[in-house]
Amino acid sequence: AEIHYHQFVIEARPVKRLCRTHNTITVNGQFPGPTLEVRNGDTIIIKAINNARYNITLHWHGLHQRRNPWADGPEYVTQCPIQPGRSYTYRFTIQDQEGTLWWHAHSRWLRATVYGALIVYPKLGSPYPFPMPKKEIPILLGEWWDRNPMDVLRQALFTGAAPNVSDAFTINGQPGDLYRCSRKETVRFPVESGETILLRIINSALNQELFFGVANHKLTVVGVDTSYTKPFTTSVIVIGPGQTTNVLLTADQAPSRYYMAAHAYNSANAPFDNTTTTAILEYKSGPCNAKKRKSSAPVFPKLPGFNDTATAEAFTAQVKSAYHVKVPSVIDQNLFFTVGLGLINCTNPNSPRCQGPNGTRFTASMNNVSFVFPRRNSLMQAYYQGQPGVFTTDFPPVPPIKFDYTGNVSRGLWQPVPGTKLYKLKYGSRVQIVLQDTSIVTTEEHPMHLHGYEFYVIGRGFGNFNPSTDPAKFNFIDPPRRNTIGTPPGGWVAIRFVADNPGIWLMHCHIDSHLAWGLAMAFLVENGVGKLQTVQPPPLDLPRC
Ligand code: C2O
Repeated sequence: AEIHYHQFVIEARPVKRLCRTHNTITVNGQFPGPTLEVRNGDTIIIKAINNARYNITLHWHGLHQRRNPWADGPEYVTQCPIQPGRSYTYRFTIQDQEGTLWWHAHSRWLRATVYGALIVYPKLGSPYPFPMPKKEIPILLGEWWDRNPMDVLRQALFTGAAPNVSDAFTINGQPGDLYRCSRKETVRFPVESGETILLRIINSALNQELFFGVANHKLTVVGVDTSYTKPFTTSVIVIGPGQTTNVLLTADQAPSRYYMAAHAYNSANAPFDNTTTTAILEYKSGPCNAKKRKSSAPVFPKLPGFNDTATAEAFTAQVKSAYHVKVPSVIDQNLFFTVGLGLINCTNPNSPRCQGPNGTRFTASMNNVSFVFPRRNSLMQAYYQGQPGVFTTDFPPVPPIKFDYTGNVSRGLWQPVPGTKLYKLKYGSRVQIVLQDTSIVTTEEHPMHLHGYEFYVIGRGFGNFNPSTDPAKFNFIDPPRRNTIGTPPGGWVAIRFVADNPGIWLMHCHIDSHLAWGLAMAFLVENGVGKLQTVQPPPLDLPRC
């Protein structure tokens, strides 16, 4: 195993997109940030130097950080933010994980531009369970605002309204040639006729699930997050913020140029960015005249309609682990969490702070609790130091009110209560969670991400979860293991994991507008008795609030 040392200098740099130059927060001057390429078992040491004017933290999305929550990164959860002019060194070892992951800022909306790929190759000498591709290409799908994203967030939080939608989607930081002033910079991927390449697709967009496809080419899905999956071919994939998908593509078409494109999958009946980002798959060799090929427009892929939930669900249903897996068959904790938006009634509906629908403010909650990040200390530091008053451990295991999650719910029934509430899990307990979209305000997919763990996705369905009939349909044989899974719009998803990683671990919707409104909770997995069951001591340079 190797040790990788890096310095990540976080600073504002001019970045030009859509005809305008913005002072953009970057890492080492790069947008997207540097790609980390490591192997299972390697150690990574990254000194993050904050030369920007915002507090910031970095998160290594999908890594377990076993017994080492100090390196996980969500601000005010496992650490206080790195203040401007300060630094913090993230040290961690990758244990039994390989696949496509990514890293991103975990402070308000800074991840809009502060993100990069984290590719974990198998240990030396251990092969992929599919033929070795000729080359591998990380594809980072992102979202771009023609304003400082922090201002977009600030305005939404101040007015209580929904934030402005993005102005472009991006592939590896570039909007592509369908947008103004973006043609020359459109990303081009050269391929040789006949070769097979592995696309490591990452949805790093802030607020949007996406459809992705490549014209005339079949995609063979071979992995999601850090799991290998049973290969299946498809012409389009759906991917939620936080998720990754590995696909093989064989350059078996007439030598030419083909668009790779992504646009929104928007199951909510709400305003969204309906633009399309492109890159170009460019055959290098071929019998026909190269000049002629250059001049003709590339072929465009067929992408599903924006609200094509049937296609999205059919895709997700095909994702199965490549191998039989060991899902906990007995559960110690049977949890049911509602996830959804809400609206807060304002006493003065004409207030500038109540610009949501009909003079309300947007909020979001899990089991009617709208998560509030602490400010004075991080949860982990407060827990470790035994500092009281920073959080409570009374997050409800089931919603306080039951109702029909598919219908029109009266607002009075559902006024979330703000709180910094954790749910305590005993070390080693076997946990099942059913996550149910409430369909309040919008019926939509919520890509739910759990820190510190991966879980098996054992079931999903539309409508209300039925505890007497739905468990009979659970998949205990080959469910995929993931770190992020969407609730079907107006439906539920069931997951299982063993709480064998002590610490405080955030669970939240990876749509950042929802996170900002409180769609989060955290687990406190208590220390066990053995040496491997306790959290390591915090690093000496851990920032203080
Ligand atoms: Cu990728 Cu809590 O995030």
